[in-house]
Amino acid sequence: MEIVIQPTEEGATGVAARLMARLLRDKPDAVLGLATGSTPLPLYRELARMKLDWRRVTTFNLDEYVGLAPKHPASYHYFMRENLFRHINISEKNIHIPDGMAADVPAFCRRYEERIRRAGGIDLQLLGIGSDGHIGFNEPSSSLASRTRIKTLTARTRRDNARHFGGEARAPHHVITMGIGTIMESWHCLLLAFGKKKARAIAGAVEGPITAMNPASVLQLHPKVTICLDEDAASLLKMKRYYRWVFDNKPEWQTF
Ligand code: GLP
Repeated sequence: MEIVIQPTEEGATGVAARLMARLLRDKPDAVLGLATGSTPLPLYRELARMKLDWRRVTTFNLDEYVGLAPKHPASYHYFMRENLFRHINISEKNIHIPDGMAADVPAFCRRYEERIRRAGGIDLQLLGIGSDGHIGFNEPSSSLASRTRIKTLTARTRRDNARHFGGEARAPHHVITMGIGTIMESWHCLLLAFGKKKARAIAGAVEGPITAMNPASVLQLHPKVTICLDEDAASLLKMKRYYRWVFDNKPEWQTF
């Protein structure tokens, strides 16, 4: 795991943006796994500003709420369109987001997995993290080998996300999410976390035991993970000084 600690959210976002921009320049037909939430917002703004060529890029989003149509302002379809897709030259046919309105959810989930396979797998999977350590919507106790499927949100996640629905009572209970096994097959995982609210989840994911109780901790088994943090999100890491030293002394060919 490479842990990148920057003084601010902007700094950490800048590192992630450079890393993604390099991928798109080196591999114009890259397959990206994309995330939602407030964490990647500044990254999407920065990527749009960079005027990269997205024509041959394919994207797969991590998750979507069940029962929300793409036009619903709290749906992840809407989020992606507003915050990234309408600002870049991506081809509509290359965009994939789980269908929250699918009539047959298990069949949809199988097809989603099949599409990822047919696209050649995900080159770079962007991830946020829930305050309980969830990635995508894989809540604590999710199978670490899980595939794309329906999940029931915990009370805590519904509370965390209630602001997007005008209150907890209106927040959906069910979601479709890529599984942890699906995420683990990506060639490179890039996780971003900002703020004190994420510090405990990050400490558990990076330095705790691998456990389904902190789903992000499974990333310790992934061969290529980059975690970009601000000071607050990194505040509970025991080996902070070492991570900083590693980053500051990278050989030239490894820098972002
Ligand atoms: C949701 C998303 C996750 C995201 C998490 C954190 O649960 N499904 O992908 O990482 O929220 O959101 P935020 O970035 O707003 O803290």
